[in-house]
Amino acid sequence: MGVPRRVLAQDQVARVDDLIARMTLEEKAGQMTCLADSFRPFNPPNPQAGIQDERRLAAEIRKGRVGCLFNGIGVAGARRAQEMAVGESRLGIPLLLAGDVIHGLKTIFPVPIAEAASFDPHLCERTARAMAVEATAAGLHLTFAPMVDVARDQRWGRVVEGAGEDVYLTGLLSAARVRGFQGRDLRRSDSLLACPKHFAAYGAVAGGLEYGSVDISDETLRETHLPPFGASFAAGALVTMAAFSEVNGVPATADRELLTDILRGEMGFRGFVCSDYTADEELVAHGYAQDARDAARLAVLAGVDMSMQSGLYTRYLPELVNSGAVPAATVDIAVRRILYVKAAIGLFDNPWRSLDEETEKSRIFTPSHRALAHEAATRSIVLLRNEGVLPIDPGKVRKIALIGPFAEDRDNLYGPWAFYGDPGKGVDIATGLRAALPDPAMLAVTRGCDVGGAIDGGIAQAVAAAKTADLVLLAIGESQAMSGEAQSRTVIELPAAQQALADAVAATGTPMAVLLRHGRALALHEGVAGAGAILATWFLGSEAGHAIADVLLGKVDPSGKLPVSFPWESGQEPFFYDRKSTGRPVVDNGSTEYKARYATTDNSARFPFGHGLSYTRFTLDRLTLSDEALRWDAAIEVRARLTNAGQRRGSEVVQLYIRDRVASRTRPIRELKRIARVTLDAGESQTVRFSLSRTDLEFVGAGNRRMAEPGVFDLWVGQSSVGGLHTQFTLYGAPPGMTA
Ligand code: NOJ
Repeated sequence: MGVPRRVLAQDQVARVDDLIARMTLEEKAGQMTCLADSFRPFNPPNPQAGIQDERRLAAEIRKGRVGCLFNGIGVAGARRAQEMAVGESRLGIPLLLAGDVIHGLKTIFPVPIAEAASFDPHLCERTARAMAVEATAAGLHLTFAPMVDVARDQRWGRVVEGAGEDVYLTGLLSAARVRGFQGRDLRRSDSLLACPKHFAAYGAVAGGLEYGSVDISDETLRETHLPPFGASFAAGALVTMAAFSEVNGVPATADRELLTDILRGEMGFRGFVCSDYTADEELVAHGYAQDARDAARLAVLAGVDMSMQSGLYTRYLPELVNSGAVPAATVDIAVRRILYVKAAIGLFDNPWRSLDEETEKSRIFTPSHRALAHEAATRSIVLLRNEGVLPIDPGKVRKIALIGPFAEDRDNLYGPWAFYGDPGKGVDIATGLRAALPDPAMLAVTRGCDVGGAIDGGIAQAVAAAKTADLVLLAIGESQAMSGEAQSRTVIELPAAQQALADAVAATGTPMAVLLRHGRALALHEGVAGAGAILATWFLGSEAGHAIADVLLGKVDPSGKLPVSFPWESGQEPFFYDRKSTGRPVVDNGSTEYKARYATTDNSARFPFGHGLSYTRFTLDRLTLSDEALRWDAAIEVRARLTNAGQRRGSEVVQLYIRDRVASRTRPIRELKRIARVTLDAGESQTVRFSLSRTDLEFVGAGNRRMAEPGVFDLWVGQSSVGGLHTQFTLYGAPPGMTA
């Protein structure tokens, strides 16, 4: 039980055991309590954050009634709190200091969905490392990140916080983020504990409604929503957070099957589970607990080791144990898990780790972090469409009209969950472009409209500017308040005022590149969709303007790929590429009568998962398999040749998809299994190699068992989830004597 031996020395185990033997029930409940940090200046990201004022909170810490503080930053305040815990509480147990560092502390990196477009685990690991360096320099030990929820409905606002719609990609990038946050040694002062969240299936809320209900099969839970958690735990994560939502009629916070049987029994998780913000108290509103006391009982029995912000554990656990409603052993187990994690990061030996004022001065918003934010931002941009408009040729384009509410805007550069960042320090598009253009006077900026409404004469001014320009750059999209927690939308389109602006500007006929700002996939309509070029620029963070300028001017070749499908219409949501065939699929060039489709919309995506263009042109050929027969315990090698057939150096992400033709549980029409990022000079070719084995073909079948079934598989190697080179292979069954 508790953290694995390899991360905890024997003397630490003994130390924790000794402490537990000496703790009162009140102190145990205190260790199981996480409260908003009122000591350090912070911008409250959550309701009721300041519920405990500084004086009351100090008294609680001195009594040993708090184990963790969250969402405050700054070394001085943290030291004061830690001094109280270590020096003035009876047992001197250090506080764990947590915060939501989701895509940066002061240096803001692209929002996670944007960075996922890099399809590059190494980049995600590097940015997570930089975030950890800043967060630990500011006095944090734990971040509530990465969000590893697979998000298949773009109406859900939290799409922005994850890695998109695909299971494989989310697992790959989430594990990289965990490795990056935690670094190689948890005891180092710049190691930041990760907390993959929200356990589980939070992204599957019905209708994309935040905090809503999830109703899914056991198989889908295990096949789609749990694997990214598994990958994150395998990468070393020791904390996870229970989801706000209910799964199949039981709120996750009270779901013993989910938090204990599945999380620990099936998945082997060894760390501690934290509730989400007041989620235990919310069991009453769910209609699952009688009252607050019952809610605390249900949560602790389910396996919630730490209660966030409600204070229910300190209020009720001692009495619940004394009355026999909760076994004392349950509390001991939870406390042990929490203390093991504190021990694993060296907090007992050095409660002052990550609380150094010199480090705080020198490791935050550094030039190297900003350079990395710049690189990450360029790598997150996806060129969705380009009819020869980009890159900007300064020889031909003399006058550029930058139009739209985001042209000079600094309030929407970072995206949600960047509340520690200073908005004044972000580089907006106009600033980035002026710095990069041969002559800043080439650029004329017109707002045109506000994010959500028209401005007097705005469209007329924009049209006039467009008419006299050689090129329009239209900076439109969502504000950062339109995505993130509690920002579900029913329609994932541009606000009407911006669509009207786009239509009017497009009608001038001046060549136009649209710079989309967004935290989710959008349904685009004419005016925007027909533009000569479209770039997905998400919320790119501190260096947004520089990165956008680099890509527009061709200093950097765009190489991002969509981690979420862009539908034609909002009503297609939930929409993802790995859907099922159905009994009445629409086949290419076939009739659509009485087929599984909406009467008004094609089943395809406007821009599919995995799509992303470059300024050069890549081709694939020579798809070969080492063997068309995959033996049960062997592997096959898949090879394809990638050629840069264009005029300039560039990067492509080669993607391998499979389809299991016939199985005992219907399988998706395609599933991503491998990616490879390759950079080639103009004219250069490279053979890309992938290895596939039986485990890559597994799915969750009857009895919730992972299994692969012999038979024929389609295989594609391509540049997106649509098209590509196709072949097939056969998986042969286990030889006699070997179990299937
Ligand atoms: C609520 C969010 O759901 C969760 O992701 C976050 O970590 C907590 N609030 C703490 O701020």
